[in-house]
Amino acid sequence: MLDIAFAKSALPKSGALALLLAEGDGAEGATGTLLAAADAATTGAVSRALAAAEFTGKRGQSVTVLAPGAELTRVVAIGLGKLDSLTPKLAEDAGGQAQALLAREPAAAVSAAGLTGAQAAAIALGAVLRSYRFDLYRTTEKADDKPKLAKLTVLTAEAAKAKDAWAGGKGVANGVFLARDLVSEPPNVLTPAAMAERCKKLEDLGVKVEIFGPKEMTKLGFGALMGVAMGSAQEPRMVVMHWNGAPAGKKSTKPAPIAFIGKGVTFDTGGISIKPAGGMEDMKWDMAGAGAVIGLMAALAGRKAKVDAIGLVGLVENMPSGTAQRPGDVVKSYSGQTIEVINTDAEGRLVLADVLWYCQQKYNPRCMIDLATLTGAIIISLGHEYAGFFANDDTLANQLAAAGTASGELLWRMPLGDAYDKQIRSDIADMKNVGGRPGGAITAAQFIQRFVNGKVWAHLDIAGTAWSSKDAPTVPKGATAYGVRLLDRLVADNYEA
Ligand code: BES
Ligand code: MN
Ligand code: ZN
Repeated sequence: MLDIAFAKSALPKSGALALLLAEGDGAEGATGTLLAAADAATTGAVSRALAAAEFTGKRGQSVTVLAPGAELTRVVAIGLGKLDSLTPKLAEDAGGQAQALLAREPAAAVSAAGLTGAQAAAIALGAVLRSYRFDLYRTTEKADDKPKLAKLTVLTAEAAKAKDAWAGGKGVANGVFLARDLVSEPPNVLTPAAMAERCKKLEDLGVKVEIFGPKEMTKLGFGALMGVAMGSAQEPRMVVMHWNGAPAGKKSTKPAPIAFIGKGVTFDTGGISIKPAGGMEDMKWDMAGAGAVIGLMAALAGRKAKVDAIGLVGLVENMPSGTAQRPGDVVKSYSGQTIEVINTDAEGRLVLADVLWYCQQKYNPRCMIDLATLTGAIIISLGHEYAGFFANDDTLANQLAAAGTASGELLWRMPLGDAYDKQIRSDIADMKNVGGRPGGAITAAQFIQRFVNGKVWAHLDIAGTAWSSKDAPTVPKGATAYGVRLLDRLVADNYEA
């Protein structure tokens, strides 16, 4: 992870420097302190370059000035927009932008002059998040082609405050990186068993981890999840992670835990209802819901969140084979309800059905939020900008939407209703696992809701947001870890003691 330090504002004698400048702030403005110093050291070269580039400090604007003085190798100016509208998310974006512009330098400083310690920590977080790279399997890349930035010093008048805030930020960044690593791993490496082993590592952070194998799940009666697993040579797993961070008080006054449930299909071929070959490799990230839950648990533990949270992930591989389930099979879920499996490619909902029911029976949580790369239909609805979500409770829905705006992991509420539920009626079982093309993301949510037993619940369909084909300020292209920041924010704003 990019190494972060905080130090008092002073112009570095040499090397690279990013200046974060508010709109209208020249060398005289609050954020321009180090611009003035850089000008003094370079006979005004930096300000002249900014003027020539018509830099005004508008949000997102940037100018790179190479070697303005003998010692300064690179000065980049980044526009923050108006200072009074600088949200934590926008500060993170500026930090991410600075990281990208400084990536070729081995070490650099970024000026947060005129900003608060909390804002300086947000800049650090943005820079770290943007610096993520998955290069475990690159063996021939030339050193010169790799980003070099290893250490970033954030210059701030409130260095002590920034350091405090960064302790938590680093824990969250660690959770995001874990989720991105898991989603990036190839499916031959990240099997259900291997993924469960990665969960076990969270014990180092103080998370309690339980792992269930096929024997235990068969014994419990997980007919829906086990039906999906049947076609694969890889054994399924369910992992339950516990973070007990709520202050110990009288047991009767301690609220029940908040629960997060993730779909972890380590590879989705579609099964006997096999998918077309084109783009099938993308289905390695069909475990991104589980990846987000695991990353979230790491984030909560890493920043010692004052909350009791449980994370449950259902880990299976969906394969066609002589032992695979068939279209037409009827399976009995852990809830007792029977399901006619019309399409073996609608497997995520089958996995979630059993894990959700287990979560309620066993833990009686105060609310449940599931994440799943569940349907192609949600991508048709919302593209790659917003995840879709469904909720049976307006308070939770509003909390989620607010956390989405604050974290930049956007989500849009979709409807639930009896008319949609009718689409999954079966002629021979309690329900079928597909509802036809109209409203495909909604009928999938209706299916999941049939396994919600009176609990406050939300379902996030992250099929469109788990993976990105373009760089964003704090999210390099590839695995996004969508959900980790969102749900960490949700917990921080609403569920901590
Ligand atoms: N994992 C897929 C959904 C998906 C599609 C995620 C594209 C990311 C990108 C899911 O298991 C699936 O196959 N869903 C089917 C459901 C259909 C058979 C009702 C789909 O969306 O086509
Ligand atoms: Mn599928
Ligand atoms: Zn799937």
